[in-house]
This record gives sequence, structure tokens and C-alpha cells, in this order.
Amino acid sequence: MPLDIRRLLQDAAGPHHQLQSDHVNPRFAKSLNLIGFDRTYVNAENAHLIDQNGEHYLDMLGGYGMFNMGRNNKTVRRALSDFLNAETASLIQLGTPLLSGMLAQELKRRIPGFDYVYFTNSGADGVETAIKFARRSTQREGILYASSAFHGLTTGALALNGAEIFRSGFGQLLPGSRKINYNDIGHLEDALSKRDVAAFIVEPIQGKGVTIPNVGYLREAGHLCRQYGTLFVVDEIQTGLCRTGHFLAMDHDGDVEADIVVLSKALSGGYVPVGAVLYKKDVYNKIFSSFEDCVVHSSTFGQGDMAMVAGLAALTALDESNAAHNANIMGDRLGQGLLAMKKRFEFIADVRWRGLMVGIEFGAPKSLSLRAAWSSVNALSKDLFCQAITIPLLADHRILTQVSGHRTNTIKLIPPLTLTDEDVTWFLTAFEKVMVDLHKFPGPAWEALFRIGKNAVKRRESSVQAAAE
Ligand SMILES: Cc1ncc(COP(=O)(O)O)c(C=O)c1O
Repeated sequence: MPLDIRRLLQDAAGPHHQLQSDHVNPRFAKSLNLIGFDRTYVNAENAHLIDQNGEHYLDMLGGYGMFNMGRNNKTVRRALSDFLNAETASLIQLGTPLLSGMLAQELKRRIPGFDYVYFTNSGADGVETAIKFARRSTQREGILYASSAFHGLTTGALALNGAEIFRSGFGQLLPGSRKINYNDIGHLEDALSKRDVAAFIVEPIQGKGVTIPNVGYLREAGHLCRQYGTLFVVDEIQTGLCRTGHFLAMDHDGDVEADIVVLSKALSGGYVPVGAVLYKKDVYNKIFSSFEDCVVHSSTFGQGDMAMVAGLAALTALDESNAAHNANIMGDRLGQGLLAMKKRFEFIADVRWRGLMVGIEFGAPKSLSLRAAWSSVNALSKDLFCQAITIPLLADHRILTQVSGHRTNTIKLIPPLTLTDEDVTWFLTAFEKVMVDLHKFPGPAWEALFRIGKNAVKRRESSVQAAAE
């Protein structure tokens, strides 16, 4: 029997949850079930997910920020389907592929100042590449990373993760990796001054907490790295490709001199895993230093035609949809709308954004009864409060959002950059309603939250007990 994908998708629309539970990750499936996120989406278009009944959902999570050009973008789809029909001779390995050369050329045109591009299969793969390139080219071991950093979860990238929860139990990760405070130039200079640091790897805006550094931080960090012989590596995996209203987020800081820039996520067009590491000739000459070493760093799928087509099409689609401009316009509408609510709703501590990377931070309110509710919820779990917003946003308003990492009180919005005026209004109207409900204590919103919190505590206790037995 030939594999009939359409049929398969139709038939599997029901049991998808069970299949995940049985064969992939039962605890993740269960936790989605507990918060009501185990929905069945059967189609998607731009910033919308669509369920079996044709109901639209607003996707403010954007597949963790990779659908910059919109879900199922026509240009990317057409390019991929044309590519499949072209039956190219992909991945010859001992060959010089046309398409990776074209994508490299196109990326260099958009990000001037770099000489070569190394293609990867994911963001973390790009970070691993940057670590290796920096170590070999500087002949130093140290890698600096910032507090609260996230650069992926492979072993090397994990060593640069600022959150203990991800690292715990995985043993010694990367000798020479050291954490410094994000957005602290003095701390960076102290750490660089021993001249044993190969690279400082940093996100221009941190995904965790949507932390935007001071103006000039990235520029100054670049200068310092140069002064001390350290490579300055900018991780634009989430922030790049127009997300923040510029092609790269570091462009907000003027003339930032990076030695290596890492891209991924949206370069995939949302279809084929792909990443790119842009770097300079000096580094190239020290890595691929002889004919013998000319593939000393490589991976089997690295320059696959399909990934390269997705990359070329993704860039075209970003141009066609005027993505950077729309990110600025819609980001400002969203950000200003939320900021205006800050005056009315005590739980909103801060709203910050660059383009369509938006953080809504919550904090302890002033009034006594709300403050008591806040403290009780935080005593149950430091991860709980934001669920009082993300759960009703999905359950009552069909909007998908995420908390920006463990132990944060910040919700992050990284939707497709094709977001429309109507989408922004949808979000602001829903968010306002959720805020009104949450500012009534006692009330149903709080009852639901306490129920989830107590269940979570019970589950934690029983898993600790099970582990001890
Ligand atoms: C800033 C940043 N770097 C690296 C990564 C890792 O990318 P991947 O999940 O493709 O390995 C991510 C993923 O969320 C990221 O946000």
C-alpha cells in the first residue's frame, strides 16, 4: 500500500495525543493535557492555527519563533514543492553544491562584513560550531556566557545555559565555560582580562525573560572582545531574520562588530531544519587550515538542497511580506496597547519589546488582597502565576502563548511577523479580559490556579516518593 499522507493525517487527528503518550514523551503530553494545551490543530495559515471544526487560534508562540514569514507561507511552499519535482542531485558530499553557495552569498549580502558561511542542522548545532571555531582559532579554551542565557540543549550549548534546571544531572559539561552577568560591561571586562577566553557568546535580546540590554552594550562588548583577543559571537537564532524589526537584533545597537553570527529557526521557512554560522577569513584559515583539514568540521546533512531551498525561499518570503517593517508596526501597536493597560492592572510590572519580540512581566501588586493571592500562588510554585494568563488565553480566547522560561513571571510573544491589525486587536481584547478576571480575588480565575498548583505539588511529592522507593 502506498503511503497516503493526507489520509494518514485525517485518520490520525484523533489519536495523536495517545501516540505521543505511548511512544514519544508521556510526561510532556500529560502536562499539556493538565493545562488544556493538548488541542488538535489540523491546518495553519500565517499567524493562525486551525482546528478540526475550522476554528482559528492566534499563534503568539510561532513554533518558538520560527514562523517569521507566516505558517505555510506560499513562497516557501511553492519553492519546496518545485524543488521536490526537480529531483536534484543533492548531498553528493564530494561536490560543490550550487544552492548552499547561493544561500551563503545571499546571507552575506544581508549581513555585510563576513567572509564564509557554515551551514548547520539546528540552532544548537550552530552554537557548537561557534564554540569549536573560537577554540581552535584562538587556541584558548574559555567560553563566556551570560546569566539566563539559552543557546540550545546539546552538550556544549547546554554548558552555556544560565538555568540550572536544564543542566542538572548531566555532569561536567564544557571545561572553561564561565558565566558572567548579562548586560554588565564591567563583569565582561574582568572575565576577559586574563586573556584565556576564546569566545563570549551572547543573545542580543535574551529569550528568557525578554531581557533587552542597555543601548551600547553589544557594541562595547564587541570592542572589549577585540581588545582582549576573544571572539564575539552573537546568537541571533531567535532574534534574527527581522524578528525585532531589523534583519538582526544587534543592528539596533548601531555598528556592532561581531566575529561570528549564528542564525537558525526562521531560516528554515518553518519546514526544513537549517542554520547558518557567518564568520571571517581569519577564523576560516585557522579551522579549515589545509587540504587535510578542509572538512575538519562538517555534518552529513549540512548543505542539503532542500534546506538550502527553504533558506532561500524564507529570505524571499521575508522580503515579500515586508517582515521587518510589519514587525515594527505591529510590535509597537501590541507593546503600546499593553503598556496602556499597565496603569489599570496592578499585576503588570513591565512591558518591553523590540519589533515582534514582546515580554509582559508580572509582579507583586500593591493592594493587600491581591498581594496575598500573589504570595500564595508563588509559594505553591514559582512557575505558576503566568499560567493564570496563558491558560484562559487559550481556553477562552483561542490564543497560544508561552511563559518565557522556568521561574520567570514573563510571558513572551514571538508570533509570525505577518501578524495583522485584527490579530493585534484580538490579542489585546482577550488579554484585557483575562486581566480583569485576574484582578478579582477571590474569583474563578484564582480557584482554577490554586487547583492546578495543588495538583502540581501533589505530583511533585509523589514523584519524589517514587524516586526514593
Ligand atoms: C537564542 C537561542 N539559541 C539557540 C537555540 C537552540 O536552537 P535549536 O532548538 O534549533 O537547537 C535557541 C532555541 O530556542 C535559541 O532561542
